[in-house]
Amino acid sequence: MAQDNHLYQESFRPQFHFSPPCGWMNDPNGMVYYEGEYHLFYQYNPKDIVWGPMHWGHAVSPDLVHWQNLPIALFPDDIGTMFSGSVVVDADNTSGLVPGGGLVAIFSYNTQAQGIAYSSDKGRTWTKYEGNPVIGVLAKDFRDPKVFWYEPTKHWVMVIAAGLHLQIFTSPNLINWEMTSQLTGGLAGGVWEVPDLFPLQIEGQTKWVLLGSVSQMAPAGGGGVRYFIGDFDGQTFTYNEADPSLWLDYGPDNYAGTTWSDMPADKRTYIGWMSNWQYAANTPTERWRGATTLPREFRLIRTDEGIRLIQVPVEAIMQLREPISTWDNLTVDGDLVLDKVQGRMLEIIAEIEPDTAERFGIDVQRDTDDNKTRILYNSKQSKLYISRTDKTEAGNISAFTPAFGAPIPLNNAPLRLHIFVDESSVEIFAQDGLFSLTSQTFVNPANKGVALFAEKGSVNVSHLEIYALKSIWPTDSTDSIEVCG
Ligand code: FRU
Repeated sequence: MAQDNHLYQESFRPQFHFSPPCGWMNDPNGMVYYEGEYHLFYQYNPKDIVWGPMHWGHAVSPDLVHWQNLPIALFPDDIGTMFSGSVVVDADNTSGLVPGGGLVAIFSYNTQAQGIAYSSDKGRTWTKYEGNPVIGVLAKDFRDPKVFWYEPTKHWVMVIAAGLHLQIFTSPNLINWEMTSQLTGGLAGGVWEVPDLFPLQIEGQTKWVLLGSVSQMAPAGGGGVRYFIGDFDGQTFTYNEADPSLWLDYGPDNYAGTTWSDMPADKRTYIGWMSNWQYAANTPTERWRGATTLPREFRLIRTDEGIRLIQVPVEAIMQLREPISTWDNLTVDGDLVLDKVQGRMLEIIAEIEPDTAERFGIDVQRDTDDNKTRILYNSKQSKLYISRTDKTEAGNISAFTPAFGAPIPLNNAPLRLHIFVDESSVEIFAQDGLFSLTSQTFVNPANKGVALFAEKGSVNVSHLEIYALKSIWPTDSTDSIEVCG
């Protein structure tokens, strides 16, 4: 299928993140690895750049970095439009719908009933199950089923949002479902949306991670993703309710994300919607709106506070690197403009020893008038901020949180930053992925400078490494995209 990458030349178009060729996207849906391809479906309104009648858009990738757009996978039908959901590999044809094995999508209708669809041609064409819906409207705000196979007792498990609760259902065949448990404890603000549940190893043990998007009251305002670490027996998820509330991201633009099913080598890779319902419909783009975060590999580590999830951008992104320069032991006192670096698609790896400065950090997307996106560590507060108070017209989106931060106590260790700057976003992974801050930034596209700074004292930048990143949407492609007409 053909791809016309000229659509990817618009102002603010992410160059190494996925965004749809045209139209509106919100949640990523149905991520599954199958026969050598990573599938990404997504909440899609092809006809407009605001939310509307939902379809499932579709793209595939060989490596989680380069994406090929495919035709729309699921269209609205007589029952309703297509809300979020998941896709599984039904290898043994438990559903009876895919003889020889195939893919089954489990999605919500906008009515909040749940339906399924199946494909026997690697996700290229889909048939809705004629007995839809397979689960009726059992609760208010009942949606976004995430399904996986539970091998010990050989059944399918569904985790689904049900208003202020998360519920678990099981099924032998993806068609007949029975509720087995409900989680009521520890929920904060707003309804749940788009949950996920998956195992990860730590210290030779299996722990289960429950993810859920909360529509309000996230650390940077609006919606965000919470997680819990606990145990799962095939029917019930249990966790220590006394544990503090854990957030996946301290930036405003990482919502409704889930992980790929059936990944090789037991990897667990996540991707989120890089926007926020508070202003998603107001960003200054023309033919498309919405993008995903970078795909991130999840791992568990033990910290002094307990077990935590860390996120590391998938290794395949390194293939986009074009080295610019490295520096060692730079003393910064005031502003230090890095003249060698001019770019809007950058990867920055920095290790900074705080020393005497009260505030220090890195400015990106900077111009000579000092418009910029500022990445700032406040030593007194032990907090890492992104400030997006750019004064250009594009930067003035109403409801854009101007600044937000993550508490990162350094305890005499250096601040370690791994930063990805794209045309309209900044993603930070701090302390090896223990903290993440994801943010859209609509700074004048001409702003390409980078500077280090330290205020009220100095810092030692013990190591700095900067790469230009290549676009994943090369314009010399001869393909064309049919989705956009
Ligand atoms: C989350 C969400 C889901 C829903 C979808 C509709 O962003 O509200 O709960 O299924 O978007 O597009």
